[in-house]
Amino acid sequence: MISGHGGNIYELAHRIGCRPSDISDMSANVNPLGPMPELIDYLRANMSAIAALPEVDAGGIVKAFSRFYGIDPRHVMAGNGTTQLIYLIPRALGAKKALVVGPTYSDYRDACAMNQVPCDHLICREKDDFVPDMETIRKGAATADLVFLCNPNNPTGTLVKRPDIDALCRSLPDTVFVVDESYLPFAPMPADATMIGSDLPNVMVLNSMSKAFRIPGLRIGFVKTPEPLMQGLTPFALPWSVNSLAQAAVQWLMDRPEPVDRFLSSTRSILETEKTRIEEYIHQRTRIRCFPTATSFILMRLPDGLDAPTVWRHMADNRILIRDCSNFTGLSDAFIRISLKTEKENHRATELLVQLFRDHVKMGTIHEF
Ligand SMILES: Cc1ncc(COP(=O)(O)O)c(C=O)c1O
Repeated sequence: MISGHGGNIYELAHRIGCRPSDISDMSANVNPLGPMPELIDYLRANMSAIAALPEVDAGGIVKAFSRFYGIDPRHVMAGNGTTQLIYLIPRALGAKKALVVGPTYSDYRDACAMNQVPCDHLICREKDDFVPDMETIRKGAATADLVFLCNPNNPTGTLVKRPDIDALCRSLPDTVFVVDESYLPFAPMPADATMIGSDLPNVMVLNSMSKAFRIPGLRIGFVKTPEPLMQGLTPFALPWSVNSLAQAAVQWLMDRPEPVDRFLSSTRSILETEKTRIEEYIHQRTRIRCFPTATSFILMRLPDGLDAPTVWRHMADNRILIRDCSNFTGLSDAFIRISLKTEKENHRATELLVQLFRDHVKMGTIHEF
C-alpha cells in the first residue's frame, strides 16, 4: 500500500525547506554507484521512445531478460516494478492462507490484505541475528498455500543458502514459495544463491531492476515462475504495464552482460569495503549494534535510551534520510536501517550517529558501555 516505505525525500525536503536533491537518501536501498552512466546516455538519446506505445506485453524485454539468465521466456512475466507482481500473486493464485517470513518488507502483508488473503508472520529471532530457521519455517508453512521469503531479506540483510531454500520448497510441494531476490545482486556470489534457474513447480522468483541498476523511477521487475503457476498469472497481466523508456533500459542492460557484470562486481566490492569500515567505526565508538548483512543496507539496534524517531530526526535535520524501522512487523523503535551510499556520505552519516550517541551519553540518557 502507499505508506510504509522509505525513500520519501519529497516529504522531508518540504519539511526542512530544501530541494529533494539536497538530501542524502540512505533510506532507499539502491545501488550507490548507479545508474550506469552509459545507460543514462542511451536513454537520453532515445527519449523519442515515449512518443509510441510500448510493447503491450513487454515481450521483447521478457526475451532479453530470459537470455541474460538462461531461462525459458515462457516462464517470465514483466511488471511495473516487482511491486505490481507482489500485489498480483495472492489474487491470481487464489491463495487461501499466506505466511510471511519476517521481519521483512511490508508489501507482502499488504498485498495479502488487499486481496483478502489471511496472512501470518513468522518472525525470526534477534538472538540468531534474524537468520531464518528453516525447520521452523517448514512447520509454519505447512498450513499455508503461499509463502513469501525475501532473500537477502529487507531489512535484516540475512541471506539463506540456495540448498536450504531448495530443500524447504521440495518438502512442501503444495505450497507456493515466492522468493524475492530484489537485493541478491548486492550479495556475494549471487549466481550461487539465486533460485531463478530452479525448475521446481512451486517456486516463483522476483527480480527487481530498481535496486541493482538504480532505476527505481522507471518501475521494472520480473517474476520467473513455472508453467502451471504462470497460467494463473497470465489472465491478470495488465497491458502496457512497462513503459517505453523502461523497456529500452532493460533491453540495453540485458544485451550487455559483460559490462553489467563488471558494474555489479564493482558495486559488490565497494559495498564490502564500506560495510566493514562502517561496522568497525560504529562498533569502536558506540553501543549501536550492526547486524551482519549480505546486502547493501545495515540494520542497527540502538541502545536503550535512544530511539529510532530521535535518530531519524537528528539525521533529517542534517539532510540525511534513514529508515526508522518502528513500523516493520517484528521490529520496534529500537531499530534503524541505513542504506550505503558513497564513502563520503557514509562517513558523514556514521559521524552524525556517533555524535548523537556521545551527546546522549553526556546527557545521561544512555550509558557509554
Ligand atoms: C524486498 C523488496 N521487494 C520489492 C520491492 C519493490 O521494488 P520494485 O517495485 O521497485 O521492483 C522493494 C522495494 O523497496 C523491496 O524492498
